[in-house]
Amino acid sequence: MQQPDTAPIRSFADVQALAAGDMEAVNTLIRNRLASDVVLINQISGHIISSGGKRLRPMLHLLAARCSGYRGEAHVPLAALIEFIHTSTLLHDDVVDESDLRRGRKTANAVWGNAASVLVGDFLYSRSFQMMVELDNMRVMRILADATNRIAEGEVLQLLNIGNADTSEQSYLDVIERKTAVLFSAATRLGAVLAGLPGEQEEALAKYGLDLGYAFQIADDVLDYVSDADTLGKNIGDDLAEGKPTLPVIHAIANSPPEQAASLRRAIESGGLDSLPNIIAAIRDSGAIEHARSRATHYAQSARSALSALPASPAREALALLADHSVNRSS
Ligand code: IPE
Ligand code: IPE
Ligand code: MG
Ligand code: MG
Repeated sequence: MQQPDTAPIRSFADVQALAAGDMEAVNTLIRNRLASDVVLINQISGHIISSGGKRLRPMLHLLAARCSGYRGEAHVPLAALIEFIHTSTLLHDDVVDESDLRRGRKTANAVWGNAASVLVGDFLYSRSFQMMVELDNMRVMRILADATNRIAEGEVLQLLNIGNADTSEQSYLDVIERKTAVLFSAATRLGAVLAGLPGEQEEALAKYGLDLGYAFQIADDVLDYVSDADTLGKNIGDDLAEGKPTLPVIHAIANSPPEQAASLRRAIESGGLDSLPNIIAAIRDSGAIEHARSRATHYAQSARSALSALPASPAREALALLADHSVNRSS
C-alpha cells in the first residue's frame, strides 16, 4: 500500500496511488505467467502486454476486494488472469474488426497475421483458466466461466448486427452488456466473493461493474468518432469501416433529416471509410454525441449509486471516481 487508507481520493492519480502496491504485484505476475517456450507466443503476448493498456479491469478487482475488506492474497492472481482474459479478447477482436492500431502500436494481426493472433489469444485465454484452477475456488471458476462464455456470445451477436442499419438501441445494449460489461461485473463481484460479503453487497458490486461497463463501452464508441489516433492509441472510424452500428450512429439515423439519415444508413450497410468526415458531421449535427455521452453518464451515476451498499472507505471513493473517469477519459 502506497498511501494511508485515510488519504482523500480526488483524482485518477490518487486512485492509481491507492492501488499501486497491488498493481505492481499484478504486473509482475502478468509478466511471469506470459512465459512459454514457444518463441512466437512470447513475442506476440509480450508485444500486446508490454504496450500497456489502462489495466482498468484488474484495478477494479483490486479496489473491489479492498472495498470489501478482503485481506488475503488471491486478489493478485485473480486481477492478473482477468487482464489475460481481456487481452485475449483484444487479440481476437482486432482480427474480427480488421484493426491495425492498438495501444499506440501496430496490432498483432497487422504484424504477425490473423492466424498467429487468434492462436496466441487462445494461449492467453487458456492460461487464464490454468490460473483460475490454481485458486481452487468453484464459485470463482463459475463466475469467470460464465463471463467468458457471455463475452463470446456478445461478439457473435455483434457480428450479426454488422451492416444492419435497423439495429435498435436495445440490441446494441444487449451486445455491449455481453462483450464488455459482463467482464467488468465479474471483476468487481469477485472482490466481494473473495471477502465473503453477504449476497446483497456482492450484488451491489456486481451492479456497479455492469453499469460501469455499459458507460465504458458507450464512451469507447463515442471516442471512435470524436478522438484521434495519437490520443486514443487506436484508429478512429474503425467501427464505421466495419459497418458496426454503435449508439452514436443508431441515434443519428433516428434523429437526422431524411437525406442525412439515408447516407448514414448507406455507410453502415456498405462499411468502409470513404464517407468518414461526412458521417462524423452528420452524427454531430444530429446531437447523437451528446445523447451517447448522456447515456454513458447515466450508467456511470447508476454505478456510483450502487456503491452506497458498501461501507465508506478510500477504496469505495476510488471506485466512485473510476465510474466518472470511464466516461470522461480521452483514451
Ligand atoms: C478496450 O478496452 C476494449 C473495450 C471494451 C472498449 P480498454 O480500453 O480497457 O483497453 P486497454 O486495455 O486499456 O488497452
Ligand atoms: C470491445 O469492442 C471489444 C471487446 C470487448 C473484446 P471494440 O471493438 O469497440 O473495442 P476496441 O475499440 O477495438 O478496443
Ligand atoms: Mg475492436
Ligand atoms: Mg471501439
